[in-house]
Amino acid sequence: MTSIPQIVVNDLQYHYPDGTIALKGVSLNIYRGEIVGIMGKNGAGKSTLIKTFNGLLKPTFGTVYVENNNISDTFTSYLSKKVGIVFQNPELQLFANTVEDEIKFSLKNLNLSKEAIDEKISETLKIFDLEKYRNRSPFNLSGGEKKRLAIASIMCRDPEIIVFDEPTIGQDASGITFIKQIIKENATSGKTVVIVTHDIEFTIDVIPRIILMADGLVVADGPTHKILSHDTILEMTSLTSPQLVKFSKSLTELGEKVPEDIFLVKQMVQYLSEFFKNESRKRKGGKP
Ligand SMILES: Nc1ncnc2c1ncn2[C@@H]1O[C@H](COP(=O)(O)OP(=O)(O)OP(=O)(O)O)[C@@H](O)[C@H]1O
Ligand SMILES: [Mg+2]
Repeated sequence: MTSIPQIVVNDLQYHYPDGTIALKGVSLNIYRGEIVGIMGKNGAGKSTLIKTFNGLLKPTFGTVYVENNNISDTFTSYLSKKVGIVFQNPELQLFANTVEDEIKFSLKNLNLSKEAIDEKISETLKIFDLEKYRNRSPFNLSGGEKKRLAIASIMCRDPEIIVFDEPTIGQDASGITFIKQIIKENATSGKTVVIVTHDIEFTIDVIPRIILMADGLVVADGPTHKILSHDTILEMTSLTSPQLVKFSKSLTELGEKVPEDIFLVKQMVQYLSEFFKNESRKRKGGKP
């Protein structure tokens, strides 16, 4: 990681044509090789923010720089080579007649030879375990397979910055493991990965830094273990707070103050096993 930011967002405002002010003055830096999470409640402005990174949306006020290019006066075709965005709903991203054509189309305009394109298609289908569906319509894939194809069609272009909007929604355990692996491999090879997510367990596992948004603004930015507390999680996830956080809250209300940094079942198991050991010592008259 170098100390010169790769993405610099300065006092960014974005107003939709209907007058909705989705971003109200966002400033942040993202560095090469980082894995950064963007979290916050529905409507906080997360998706709007990431759409400025490849120039899909241009600032109403303020600036966004990607590798020293001011996106307001850089061609979207140039930015889309640098920044790949995998959107939440693959149905809206996929459109070709076959899986192979989906990848082929994505490789257009990269000035590759026919041989290089064929090679890249084969390599991509292999990495994403989609070879057997080469001639199938993307619409006849399962939800998890569609997601894999959507990720493949972005990654085959080899962007330096990869942005995922809600990558784990609708994925089973193996789908999530695959996405985690892709993210970790990319970061290790020096790519920058930005992930919009509500998935707390996933975040704790793969994302070291979180930018927390609320109502079109950044309200916190820092290491995951510092940003996530039970209160922020409950606030962010509102109705769908994880069972474990509810459980911790209930224990706290019963008088047993559970530390704020317990988010995973294995952490809770360890905490409770210590707790019961101490209780048993106390009962036997020993010191806790
Ligand atoms: N095309 C649009 N036209 C007008 N307003 C929009 C449009 N897209 C989003 N908005 C509004 O902008 C605000 C931010 O939306 P955005 O989609 O960026 O939120 P988000 O943080 O990604 O939410 P979620 O977690 O639900 O995906 C919301 O108030 C939303 O209603
Ligand atoms: Mg969104």
